[in-house]
Amino acid sequence: MINRILTAVDGSDASRRALAAAADLAQKYDAELVLLYVIRDMQIPDSVQKMADVETFKGTRLSAMQLIGQQILEECEKLVTLTGVKEIKTEVRPGDPAGVILHYAEEADMDLIVMGSRGLGGLEGMLLGSVSRKVTNLSKIACLTVK
Ligand SMILES: Nc1ncnc2c1ncn2[C@@H]1O[C@H](COP(=O)(O)OP(=O)(O)O)[C@@H](O)[C@H]1O
Ligand SMILES: [Mg+2]
Repeated sequence: MINRILTAVDGSDASRRALAAAADLAQKYDAELVLLYVIRDMQIPDSVQKMADVETFKGTRLSAMQLIGQQILEECEKLVTLTGVKEIKTEVRPGDPAGVILHYAEEADMDLIVMGSRGLGGLEGMLLGSVSRKVTNLSKIACLTVK
């Protein structure tokens, strides 16, 4: 039985298609739908890390990304509401996207993870992006990747 569905959204067209599939399933199964946006950690080299204003910069970036995440989730939530899904929850979390998606899915006892096969990354010719690949490889929970 599918009671709780997790959709990972990054603002890409593929993740919008994933959202549409997830909403359709949630509506049919009468399941709760969680929309998760992950603020990717920024890789800063050690030499730059020591600079005094790096912490301020990180804080500013985090606030900006939080705003972007909220905007994406708001837009997605509006689309889902129109489909008649009753229980919708939104989450913004910082970290490694695949790691956070996997951790959240386990912690919140999700029954299905729905992702786009690709996201915003520009690497051409790949069938799966690094996030969808890592989640599918490591997840103990069923995954649906939407093309
Ligand atoms: N930051 C993120 N937050 C939530 N979901 C994400 C994030 N990045 C990617 N995803 C999910 O993983 C899917 C595949 O994206 P990804 O593996 O990053 O491909 P690409 O390499 O093309 O960016 C997206 O459609 C989305 O469902
Ligand atoms: Mg990506």
